[in-house]
Amino acid sequence: MRINDAHIINLPKILDNRGNLSYFESEKDIPFEIKRVYWIYDVPGGEQRGGHSYKKNKEMIIALSGSFDVVINDGFEEKKITLNRSYSGLYVPNGIWRHMENFSTNSLALIVASENYEAADYERDSAHFVLSKGGRK
Ligand code: TYD
Repeated sequence: MRINDAHIINLPKILDNRGNLSYFESEKDIPFEIKRVYWIYDVPGGEQRGGHSYKKNKEMIIALSGSFDVVINDGFEEKKITLNRSYSGLYVPNGIWRHMENFSTNSLALIVASENYEAADYERDSAHFVLSKGGRK
């Protein structure tokens, strides 16, 4: 996987004077079948979440409320993507290192995952990750 395999997905947006509505359907609006959803909230100022890659799991990350940055790395290149729209998801395939930082007060990160939780699917050693990609640490 390379950094350009991660990309923003513009989710459907139904504008309405009564309030806007967005949605996504498994395998239609996002490129995988949804097996799990989790969310990150009440992040204290200055904290980071993530800091790993997955062997199999693919994810879409949405800032449902507030904003935060997602830093992605493919072992060669790094890119920072700010999420601050509830209709914009960042697709992060397996094999891409990522962490989230710079959470605004009361921000809410929704993460939709292609796999059930499995501790063995995590790669948490960044040096090992970079070496396994053929990059240099
Ligand atoms: P972790 O994925 O390490 O958090 P992050 O990468 O966002 O900083 O998960 C933190 C803890 O929560 C860890 O002990 C595993 C547990 N967990 C589950 O039990 N199920 C899940 O779906 C997730 C995402 C985490």
